[in-house]
Amino acid sequence: MKIIVLGAAAGGGFPQWNSNAPACNRARADDFAAPSRTQASIAISGNGQDWYLLNASPDLRQQINQTPELHPRSGLRSTPIRGVVLTGGDVDVIAGLLTLREREPFSVFASRRILDILDANPIFEVLARDVVERRQVGLGEPVELAGGLRVELFAVPGKVPLYLEQGSGMQPVLADETTVAAMISDSVSRVLFIPGCAAITPDLADRISGADALFFDGTLWRDDEMIAAGIGTKTGHRMGHMSLSGPDGTIAALAPLSIGQRFLLHINNSNPVLLADSPERAEAEAAGWTVCHDGMRITL
Ligand code: MLT
Ligand code: MN
Repeated sequence: MKIIVLGAAAGGGFPQWNSNAPACNRARADDFAAPSRTQASIAISGNGQDWYLLNASPDLRQQINQTPELHPRSGLRSTPIRGVVLTGGDVDVIAGLLTLREREPFSVFASRRILDILDANPIFEVLARDVVERRQVGLGEPVELAGGLRVELFAVPGKVPLYLEQGSGMQPVLADETTVAAMISDSVSRVLFIPGCAAITPDLADRISGADALFFDGTLWRDDEMIAAGIGTKTGHRMGHMSLSGPDGTIAALAPLSIGQRFLLHINNSNPVLLADSPERAEAEAAGWTVCHDGMRITL
Protein backbone atom coordinates (compact mmCIF):
# COMPACT_ATOMS: atom_id res chain seq x y z
CA MET A 1 0.00 0.00 0.00
CA LYS A 2 1.30 3.46 -0.90
CA ILE A 3 0.23 6.62 0.88
CA ILE A 4 0.98 10.21 -0.10
CA VAL A 5 0.25 13.08 2.26
CA LEU A 6 -1.26 15.67 -0.09
CA GLY A 7 -1.85 18.20 2.67
CA ALA A 8 -1.18 18.27 6.39
CA ALA A 9 -2.76 21.54 7.58
CA ALA A 10 -6.22 22.12 9.02
CA GLY A 11 -8.89 24.23 7.33
CA GLY A 12 -7.29 27.49 6.20
CA GLY A 13 -3.90 25.91 5.54
CA PHE A 14 -0.50 27.18 6.67
CA PRO A 15 -0.04 30.07 6.24
CA GLN A 16 -3.73 31.01 6.46
CA TRP A 17 -4.62 33.80 4.03
CA ASN A 18 -5.52 36.39 6.69
CA SER A 19 -3.11 35.42 9.47
CA ASN A 20 -0.40 37.88 10.39
CA ALA A 21 0.74 35.69 13.30
CA PRO A 22 4.50 35.03 13.61
CA ALA A 23 4.33 31.37 12.53
CA CYS A 24 2.41 32.19 9.34
CA ASN A 25 4.89 34.95 8.53
CA ARG A 26 7.75 32.48 9.01
CA ALA A 27 6.06 30.21 6.46
CA ARG A 28 5.67 33.11 4.02
CA ALA A 29 9.36 33.91 4.44
CA ASP A 30 10.28 30.31 3.45
CA ASP A 31 11.73 29.62 6.88
CA PHE A 32 13.06 26.04 6.63
CA ALA A 33 11.59 25.21 10.05
CA ALA A 34 8.11 26.45 9.11
CA PRO A 35 7.26 24.96 5.70
CA SER A 36 3.88 25.82 4.17
CA ARG A 37 1.25 23.13 4.26
CA THR A 38 -1.95 22.72 2.24
CA GLN A 39 -5.24 21.50 3.73
CA ALA A 40 -5.56 17.95 5.01
CA SER A 41 -5.85 15.07 2.55
CA ILE A 42 -4.03 11.85 1.73
CA ALA A 43 -3.92 9.74 -1.43
CA ILE A 44 -3.74 5.97 -1.14
CA SER A 45 -3.19 3.13 -3.61
CA GLY A 46 -2.90 -0.64 -3.37
CA ASN A 47 -1.19 -1.10 -6.73
CA GLY A 48 0.43 2.25 -7.56
CA GLN A 49 -1.99 2.69 -10.48
CA ASP A 50 -5.43 3.25 -8.99
CA TRP A 51 -5.53 6.06 -6.43
CA TYR A 52 -8.14 7.15 -3.90
CA LEU A 53 -8.22 10.52 -2.17
CA LEU A 54 -9.23 10.73 1.45
CA ASN A 55 -11.06 14.06 1.48
CA ALA A 56 -11.01 16.70 -1.24
CA SER A 57 -9.44 19.84 0.17
CA PRO A 58 -9.83 23.32 -1.31
CA ASP A 59 -6.13 22.97 -2.27
CA LEU A 60 -6.72 19.88 -4.40
CA ARG A 61 -5.71 21.42 -7.71
CA GLN A 62 -2.31 22.42 -6.30
CA GLN A 63 -1.97 19.04 -4.56
CA ILE A 64 -2.58 17.10 -7.80
CA ASN A 65 -0.17 19.31 -9.72
CA GLN A 66 2.52 18.66 -7.08
CA THR A 67 2.02 14.87 -7.14
CA PRO A 68 3.22 13.01 -10.29
CA GLU A 69 1.40 9.83 -9.20
CA LEU A 70 -1.91 11.68 -9.67
CA HIS A 71 -1.19 13.10 -13.14
CA PRO A 72 -3.01 11.84 -16.26
CA ARG A 73 -1.22 8.90 -17.89
CA SER A 74 -3.15 8.04 -21.05
CA GLY A 75 -5.14 9.68 -23.81
CA LEU A 76 -5.74 13.40 -23.92
CA ARG A 77 -7.79 13.42 -20.73
CA SER A 78 -7.67 10.88 -17.92
CA THR A 79 -6.88 10.45 -14.26
CA PRO A 80 -5.54 7.70 -12.02
CA ILE A 81 -7.91 9.00 -9.30
CA ARG A 82 -10.64 6.37 -9.03
CA GLY A 83 -12.48 7.85 -6.09
CA VAL A 84 -12.75 10.29 -3.22
CA VAL A 85 -13.69 9.15 0.28
CA LEU A 86 -15.22 11.86 2.50
CA THR A 87 -15.00 11.88 6.30
CA GLY A 88 -17.25 14.89 6.91
CA GLY A 89 -18.97 17.86 5.38
CA ASP A 90 -16.68 20.75 6.35
CA VAL A 91 -15.41 23.10 3.66
CA ASP A 92 -11.87 21.71 3.97
CA VAL A 93 -13.23 18.20 3.32
CA ILE A 94 -15.55 18.72 0.35
CA ALA A 95 -14.66 21.96 -1.48
CA GLY A 96 -11.99 20.21 -3.60
CA LEU A 97 -14.72 18.18 -5.29
CA LEU A 98 -15.40 21.31 -7.34
CA THR A 99 -11.85 21.03 -8.74
CA LEU A 100 -12.70 17.58 -10.11
CA ARG A 101 -15.36 18.78 -12.57
CA GLU A 102 -14.67 18.27 -16.38
CA ARG A 103 -16.72 15.07 -16.85
CA GLU A 104 -14.02 12.70 -15.65
CA PRO A 105 -15.44 9.47 -14.21
CA PHE A 106 -14.71 8.64 -10.57
CA SER A 107 -16.72 7.78 -7.46
CA VAL A 108 -17.50 9.76 -4.33
CA PHE A 109 -17.79 7.52 -1.26
CA ALA A 110 -19.55 8.99 1.77
CA SER A 111 -22.16 8.38 4.43
CA ARG A 112 -25.81 9.13 3.67
CA ARG A 113 -25.60 12.22 5.90
CA ILE A 114 -22.70 13.70 3.92
CA LEU A 115 -24.22 12.76 0.54
CA ASP A 116 -27.37 14.58 1.68
CA ILE A 117 -25.27 17.73 2.25
CA LEU A 118 -23.81 17.43 -1.28
CA ASP A 119 -27.26 16.74 -2.73
CA ALA A 120 -28.64 19.86 -1.01
CA ASN A 121 -25.96 22.10 -2.58
CA PRO A 122 -26.60 22.55 -6.32
CA ILE A 123 -23.01 23.70 -6.94
CA PHE A 124 -21.91 20.05 -6.57
CA GLU A 125 -24.00 19.21 -9.64
CA VAL A 126 -20.87 20.29 -11.56
CA LEU A 127 -19.92 16.67 -10.87
CA ALA A 128 -22.39 15.40 -13.45
CA ARG A 129 -24.27 12.47 -11.98
CA ASP A 130 -24.11 10.47 -15.22
CA VAL A 131 -20.29 10.52 -14.92
CA VAL A 132 -19.46 10.84 -11.22
CA GLU A 133 -21.07 8.19 -9.08
CA ARG A 134 -22.14 9.14 -5.53
CA ARG A 135 -21.78 5.96 -3.49
CA GLN A 136 -23.49 5.73 -0.14
CA VAL A 137 -21.35 3.83 2.37
CA GLY A 138 -23.09 2.46 5.44
CA LEU A 139 -21.15 2.68 8.70
CA GLY A 140 -19.38 -0.59 9.41
CA GLU A 141 -20.04 -1.88 5.87
CA PRO A 142 -16.75 -2.39 3.99
CA VAL A 143 -16.64 -1.49 0.28
CA GLU A 144 -14.14 -3.00 -2.19
CA LEU A 145 -11.96 -0.54 -4.12
CA ALA A 146 -9.74 -1.05 -7.18
CA GLY A 147 -6.18 -2.22 -6.61
CA GLY A 148 -6.99 -4.61 -3.76
CA LEU A 149 -8.10 -2.01 -1.22
CA ARG A 150 -11.16 -1.92 0.98
CA VAL A 151 -12.68 1.09 2.75
CA GLU A 152 -14.87 1.08 5.82
CA LEU A 153 -16.37 4.13 7.50
CA PHE A 154 -17.22 4.30 11.18
CA ALA A 155 -18.49 7.10 13.41
CA VAL A 156 -16.17 9.24 15.51
CA PRO A 157 -17.29 11.95 17.94
CA GLY A 158 -17.64 15.28 16.13
CA LYS A 159 -20.01 18.11 15.34
CA VAL A 160 -21.93 19.36 12.33
CA PRO A 161 -20.02 21.41 9.72
CA LEU A 162 -19.47 25.05 10.72
CA TYR A 163 -21.97 26.36 8.15
CA LEU A 164 -24.73 24.08 9.52
CA GLU A 165 -24.30 25.07 13.17
CA GLN A 166 -27.46 26.21 14.98
CA GLY A 167 -26.80 29.21 17.21
CA SER A 168 -23.39 30.32 18.40
CA GLY A 169 -23.01 28.14 21.50
CA MET A 170 -21.45 24.73 22.02
CA GLN A 171 -22.82 22.30 19.45
CA PRO A 172 -23.82 18.79 20.48
CA VAL A 173 -21.09 16.19 20.09
CA LEU A 174 -22.47 13.61 17.68
CA ALA A 175 -21.21 10.09 17.05
CA ASP A 176 -23.06 9.31 13.87
CA GLU A 177 -22.66 9.64 10.11
CA THR A 178 -21.65 13.32 10.36
CA THR A 179 -17.96 12.82 11.23
CA VAL A 180 -16.43 9.49 10.35
CA ALA A 181 -13.12 7.70 10.27
CA ALA A 182 -12.00 5.99 7.08
CA MET A 183 -10.30 2.64 7.51
CA ILE A 184 -8.44 1.52 4.41
CA SER A 185 -7.07 -1.99 4.32
CA ASP A 186 -5.50 -4.52 1.98
CA SER A 187 -4.60 -8.12 2.70
CA VAL A 188 -1.74 -7.09 5.00
CA SER A 189 -2.19 -3.56 6.33
CA ARG A 190 -4.79 -1.39 8.00
CA VAL A 191 -4.66 2.41 7.83
CA LEU A 192 -6.91 4.79 9.73
CA PHE A 193 -7.62 8.33 8.61
CA ILE A 194 -9.26 10.47 11.31
CA PRO A 195 -8.68 14.17 10.59
CA GLY A 196 -11.37 15.34 13.00
CA CYS A 197 -12.14 13.83 16.39
CA ALA A 198 -13.76 15.35 19.49
CA ALA A 199 -13.03 12.52 21.92
CA ILE A 200 -11.56 9.04 22.15
CA THR A 201 -14.26 6.63 23.23
CA PRO A 202 -13.56 3.00 24.20
CA ASP A 203 -15.04 1.92 20.83
CA LEU A 204 -12.71 4.23 18.94
CA ALA A 205 -9.70 3.04 20.94
CA ASP A 206 -10.60 -0.54 20.00
CA ARG A 207 -10.78 0.42 16.32
CA ILE A 208 -7.44 2.24 16.41
CA SER A 209 -5.63 -0.47 18.33
CA GLY A 210 -3.47 -2.60 16.05
CA ALA A 211 -3.56 -0.20 13.07
CA ASP A 212 -0.41 -0.20 10.94
CA ALA A 213 -0.69 3.55 10.40
CA LEU A 214 -2.88 6.16 12.03
CA PHE A 215 -3.40 9.65 10.56
CA PHE A 216 -5.02 11.62 13.36
CA ASP A 217 -6.48 15.02 14.16
CA GLY A 218 -3.59 17.33 15.14
CA THR A 219 -5.61 20.56 15.03
CA LEU A 220 -4.47 22.18 18.28
CA TRP A 221 -1.73 21.67 20.84
CA ARG A 222 -3.73 23.29 23.65
CA ASP A 223 -7.50 23.58 23.81
CA ASP A 224 -7.33 27.36 24.38
CA GLU A 225 -4.39 28.17 22.11
CA MET A 226 -6.34 30.32 19.66
CA ILE A 227 -7.78 32.39 22.51
CA ALA A 228 -4.36 32.67 24.20
CA ALA A 229 -2.79 33.84 20.93
CA GLY A 230 -5.54 36.44 20.48
CA ILE A 231 -6.54 35.02 17.08
CA GLY A 232 -9.91 33.49 17.88
CA THR A 233 -12.64 33.01 20.44
CA LYS A 234 -13.17 29.27 20.18
CA THR A 235 -11.62 26.41 22.07
CA GLY A 236 -10.71 23.20 20.27
CA HIS A 237 -13.52 21.54 22.20
CA ARG A 238 -15.99 24.07 20.75
CA MET A 239 -14.69 23.29 17.25
CA GLY A 240 -15.11 19.52 17.72
CA HIS A 241 -11.40 18.77 18.00
CA MET A 242 -9.58 17.26 20.95
CA SER A 243 -6.13 18.72 21.59
CA LEU A 244 -2.74 17.03 21.58
CA SER A 245 -1.25 17.96 24.96
CA GLY A 246 -2.19 17.48 28.59
CA PRO A 247 -3.58 14.61 30.61
CA ASP A 248 -6.79 14.50 28.51
CA GLY A 249 -5.03 15.10 25.21
CA THR A 250 -4.58 12.84 22.20
CA ILE A 251 -0.94 12.01 22.90
CA ALA A 252 -1.76 10.71 26.39
CA ALA A 253 -5.02 9.04 25.35
CA LEU A 254 -3.43 7.03 22.55
CA ALA A 255 -0.13 6.26 24.33
CA PRO A 256 -1.26 2.88 25.70
CA LEU A 257 -2.48 1.62 22.30
CA SER A 258 -0.45 -0.53 19.96
CA ILE A 259 -0.15 1.44 16.68
CA GLY A 260 2.42 0.84 13.93
CA GLN A 261 3.07 4.44 12.90
CA ARG A 262 1.43 7.58 14.34
CA PHE A 263 0.97 10.62 12.10
CA LEU A 264 -0.52 14.03 12.84
CA LEU A 265 -2.38 15.98 10.19
CA HIS A 266 -5.16 18.57 10.03
CA ILE A 267 -2.79 20.84 11.99
CA ASN A 268 -4.04 24.36 12.61
CA ASN A 269 -1.82 27.33 11.78
CA SER A 270 -1.76 28.20 15.52
CA ASN A 271 -0.31 24.82 16.54
CA PRO A 272 3.41 25.03 17.45
CA VAL A 273 4.02 21.43 16.31
CA LEU A 274 4.08 22.91 12.80
CA LEU A 275 7.42 24.50 13.71
CA ALA A 276 10.37 22.11 13.48
CA ASP A 277 12.26 24.07 16.14
CA SER A 278 9.51 24.20 18.79
CA PRO A 279 9.57 22.34 22.12
CA GLU A 280 6.07 21.06 21.32
CA ARG A 281 7.37 19.38 18.14
CA ALA A 282 10.12 17.73 20.17
CA GLU A 283 7.55 16.55 22.71
CA ALA A 284 5.25 15.06 20.04
CA GLU A 285 8.16 13.28 18.37
CA ALA A 286 9.46 11.95 21.68
CA ALA A 287 5.99 10.46 22.20
CA GLY A 288 6.30 8.61 18.87
CA TRP A 289 4.32 10.94 16.60
CA THR A 290 5.39 12.13 13.16
CA VAL A 291 4.13 15.56 12.13
CA CYS A 292 3.07 15.22 8.49
CA HIS A 293 4.32 17.52 5.77
CA ASP A 294 2.98 17.82 2.25
CA GLY A 295 4.50 15.29 -0.13
CA MET A 296 5.41 12.77 2.59
CA ARG A 297 5.28 9.23 1.18
CA ILE A 298 4.72 6.07 3.22
CA THR A 299 4.82 2.50 1.95
CA LEU A 300 3.29 -0.26 4.04
C1 MLT B 1 -12.80 22.13 11.32
O1 MLT B 1 -12.08 21.15 11.09
O2 MLT B 1 -13.10 22.44 12.49
C2 MLT B 1 -13.32 22.90 10.17
O3 MLT B 1 -12.60 22.59 9.02
C3 MLT B 1 -13.38 24.35 10.46
C4 MLT B 1 -13.74 25.15 9.25
O4 MLT B 1 -14.55 24.73 8.41
O5 MLT B 1 -13.20 26.25 9.12
MN1 MN C 1 -11.32 20.80 9.17
